[in-house]
Amino acid sequence: MKIFGICASPRNNTTEFVLRNALAQLEEDGFECEMFTCSAKDIRPCMHCDYCLENKKCIIDDDMSDIYKGLRKSDGIILATPIQSGGISSNLAAIMDRTRALEAIDYNLLRGKIGMSIAVGGDRTGGQDFAHLKNITYFMIHGIIPVSGGPFGSNLGASFWSDDSLDNIKKDSYGWESLDRTLAEFENFLNKYI
Ligand SMILES: Cc1cc2nc3c(=O)[nH]c(=O)nc-3n(C[C@H](O)[C@H](O)[C@H](O)COP(=O)(O)O)c2cc1C
Repeated sequence: MKIFGICASPRNNTTEFVLRNALAQLEEDGFECEMFTCSAKDIRPCMHCDYCLENKKCIIDDDMSDIYKGLRKSDGIILATPIQSGGISSNLAAIMDRTRALEAIDYNLLRGKIGMSIAVGGDRTGGQDFAHLKNITYFMIHGIIPVSGGPFGSNLGASFWSDDSLDNIKKDSYGWESLDRTLAEFENFLNKYI
């Protein structure tokens, strides 16, 4: 089964570190994983030109093409975002809007896939739950089945406190536990429903 992970940070730092760890664990468990990072990439916002509705593809020629390919072939999707202004990153908001072009091609293209959310904040309670809710809302709109790690710490997904540094996120044991629980449920759903 194929997993596509999107790191929605504009740089290679804490969120990418967490996502790479998650994908490494999934690889160990037999899943085929691919990652897209927004670091040093060109992802422009949707212009609402409606070109995609007429022409079945996005008019913008940028790195979004790699995300379209990754999403199309995936069984499972991981959205990993740094917290920005109390929610998801601007990169991730642009990516979500731009997937309108995929549904212009085929309404069912994303339906039935399994999705999970990773949120990394500089503060302990900096908006991780709002980011998860946005990701879960996105999953639901597109028919992607959202999973969490369940009660007792990972109600909505994997939540990290980076304290704005790679050294500190490595020490966030509560965050790593929430990732383990969310990954376990993600694997359960993939094995059961795909
Ligand atoms: C523009 C901007 C806004 C941010 N807003 C928040 C915030 O509202 N809450 C929070 O906890 N952290 C916030 N942060 C801190 C980042 O979420 C934190 O440093 C995170 O670890 C960055 O992930 P990265 O290392 O993958 O880029 C913000 C960072 C930036 C650049």
